[in-house]
Amino acid sequence: MDQDPSSIERKLAHIDLTVEAQISSVLKDKRFNYEPLFGSHPTPGEGPTKKTFLGKTLSAPLWISSMTGGTGPARHINQNLARGAGEFGLGMGLGSCRSLLSSDEFFSDFDLREHLGDQPFYANLGIAQIEQSLLNGSWDKIEKLVSRLKADGLIIHLNPMQEWFQPEGDLLVRSPLETIDQAIHKNSFPLIVKEVGQGMGPKSLEALMGRKLEAIEFGAFGGTNFSRLEQLRQSEDKKGFREMALIGHTAEEMVGFVNNIFNKNDIEINCQQFIISGGIQNALQGHHLMNRCMGNSVYGQAKAMLMAAKGEYSEFREFLSSQLEGLAMAERYLTPSEGKIQ
Ligand SMILES: Cc1cc2nc3c(=O)[nH]c(=O)nc-3n(C[C@H](O)[C@H](O)[C@H](O)COP(=O)(O)O)c2cc1C
Repeated sequence: MDQDPSSIERKLAHIDLTVEAQISSVLKDKRFNYEPLFGSHPTPGEGPTKKTFLGKTLSAPLWISSMTGGTGPARHINQNLARGAGEFGLGMGLGSCRSLLSSDEFFSDFDLREHLGDQPFYANLGIAQIEQSLLNGSWDKIEKLVSRLKADGLIIHLNPMQEWFQPEGDLLVRSPLETIDQAIHKNSFPLIVKEVGQGMGPKSLEALMGRKLEAIEFGAFGGTNFSRLEQLRQSEDKKGFREMALIGHTAEEMVGFVNNIFNKNDIEINCQQFIISGGIQNALQGHHLMNRCMGNSVYGQAKAMLMAAKGEYSEFREFLSSQLEGLAMAERYLTPSEGKIQ
């Protein structure tokens, strides 16, 4: 029988590329055991295992983290993000919907429910807006906002560092925890609390895990950093505090904090769902952190989603489908190499 010509080319390439293909043992990824014996390949289009999260079913444990809205290209980006969430069965958080509290000019940037079908979809406001609405008695405006967007609930972003760095930032007049408690007490819709790129320490996480929240999103240190972003927008203001942008907690550290809290016997845990986000570069990193988190978790990305969703929808589709394929492969052939992070 004739030899397949592509196999001849392949064999030649193997010989040519052998030297280039050497990888030093020091580069080995120590996070996983590789077990080639027990799985079959995912078939084309077959993703990872479905996950129950926020009371709904996700086709993959992947979350589109809160970003934009209320400006030129945001509508196109948001529509791509929402279409992707709908098509691939993911969850999505909107970027800050603050402008909608005073004007409907950009309502269509955020009006994305039809693209998502029944997938989890959350509105988003900063802690300062929540504080002000509660103090001036306009909470009903937030209720209307969530209902008009047909959102499942609201994400409150905690960003005291960012607001402080921003010349036009809103300064808080009381602690975020007091505001969150009052918002929980209103019992209007499910609430998620997140940071925006510096993460949270163990005391904040313990306080949040004790409360009746739907989930906590890390917004950890190690990726997009809003204190740094505000510094980049300014020339001189607060330059002397540059080092403040270096404060925070990575997603890996935060998984450790969460696990320590689960291991304490003396506290009541009311929130056990986590969106592990902030500096997550790829599916393998997400898979690793979810493996180790003792709570029910998915992983979230902002910057990586933004880069992929700026152009044509087909590019974003490609980005999502390769992440899902990567996750499916990881599920079949990798197991965690160590125990849970403590
Ligand atoms: C362009 C952009 C806009 C963002 N806007 C918001 C926002 O309005 N509300 C919010 O909660 N987080 C916002 N974030 C923060 C992200 O949700 C996320 O917490 C942070 O970027 C860290 O994730 P990453 O490292 O994957 O980018 C924004 C991020 C980006 C990149």
